[in-house]
Amino acid sequence: MFTNFQFNTTKSIISEPGSLRNIVEYCQKLGIHNPLIVTDHGIVSCGLLTLLLSHFNGKLPTIIYDNVVADPQEKIINDALKLAQTNDIDGVIGFGGGSSMDTAKVVAVLMKSPQSLADIYGVDQVVGKRLPLILVPTTAGTGSEVTPIAIITTGETTKAGIVSSQLLPDIALLDAELTLGLPTAVTAATGIDAMVHAIEAYTSKIKKNPYSDMLAKEALRLLSANIETVCRDGKNIAARQNMLLGACLAGQAFANAPVAAVHALAYPLGGHFHIPHGLSNSLVLPHVMRFNKSHAAIQYSELAPCISDAINTNQPPQAVTEDLITYLEDLIQRLGLPNSLKAMNIAENKLAMLAQDAMMQTRLLVNNPKDVLYEDVLAIYQAAYESQSVENEYV
Ligand SMILES: NC(=O)c1ccc[n+]([C@@H]2O[C@H](COP(=O)([O-])OP(=O)(O)OC[C@H]3O[C@@H](n4cnc5c(N)ncnc54)[C@H](O)[C@@H]3O)[C@@H](O)[C@H]2O)c1
Ligand SMILES: [Fe+2]
Repeated sequence: MFTNFQFNTTKSIISEPGSLRNIVEYCQKLGIHNPLIVTDHGIVSCGLLTLLLSHFNGKLPTIIYDNVVADPQEKIINDALKLAQTNDIDGVIGFGGGSSMDTAKVVAVLMKSPQSLADIYGVDQVVGKRLPLILVPTTAGTGSEVTPIAIITTGETTKAGIVSSQLLPDIALLDAELTLGLPTAVTAATGIDAMVHAIEAYTSKIKKNPYSDMLAKEALRLLSANIETVCRDGKNIAARQNMLLGACLAGQAFANAPVAAVHALAYPLGGHFHIPHGLSNSLVLPHVMRFNKSHAAIQYSELAPCISDAINTNQPPQAVTEDLITYLEDLIQRLGLPNSLKAMNIAENKLAMLAQDAMMQTRLLVNNPKDVLYEDVLAIYQAAYESQSVENEYV
């Protein structure tokens, strides 16, 4: 047996604490003389932008767009694009979490393209090339630095994806020094997001492939071994670097074996209730896994030893899967993340609306190992609503 597949990723990945100090060298390598830096107020107020600018130290001019918000809307993209056009920039640096990196990716494409934002939603709609692009994640979560994806908020409550190989940057820079001050709650939620990327890549129905499988397993080893350490001791540079690498490996995995129902059910939570992306995933993860168990128990049981050696793998896959789900539920509680929709103050009568929205995420649902009907989604949200809250350890 063999699998036909394609695998694409970012050309150059630099994983080294402190490597941000070489940013000018990386710009020069790509022929960037007038970069746009795309970031958000959180990055400015915690001093990270000042750190980045200190490395430029007058060697190159810098244009800064720092108005990105979580789950960026179209207006953010268009504002950043206008600034880029006005200043005739010749390269883009995305500096922040997934929101800043996704904005940077789209701006880099639109700067070189005759297309407008509306033209490029969907899969492979980008026709042109892009400006040179460097992505520097400051959260260990989305893996956006190695995915050909950007997620944009398109209306009051809806998100849409742009998928194009042009969105893969030239360089991804993984520097854990930038994540040392990441608040515990963001560390935990973004870390779970990365774990979900690996889990969903490994069970991805259509494009599952040997590279993504290998990356997903190694990602889960790194993320599971370090997520509690970084929540307890945020300054642990080795654990932080391992989280960044784990999130990057998971990103490479799901970039080529796409995510599925966990993300499809998470997006409406972000859209309607502004719940951060990682936390939305965390709220539905155990319940989607329980739903998938009948079709994905073998894959889940293969992942179990990467997540914890405390799970007994000498039992049938269904039983291993149940133990794995319990382990993940306990982990989510230990990390201090809320674990029910009720605890998020979501009214029970909103579940039907959420389920209708999740069913629109067909791009993701097709990758789920088990077919998903509206009634299933509603039942999963109901289970997520009723989960028991337990005291947490870290927050
Ligand atoms: N492109 C992709 O492949 C992909 C995949 C998954 C999610 N996403 C998208 O990414 C976005 C979520 O990204 P995210 O979870 O990384 O969060 P984010 O970029 O929205 O940032 C969350 C918050 O954390 C702060 N922050 C980030 N790094 C920090 C640091 N080092 N220290 C202190 N504060 C810091 C930011 O200022 C912000 O307030 C969503 O829009 C989601 O849809 C994209
Ligand atoms: Fe995600």
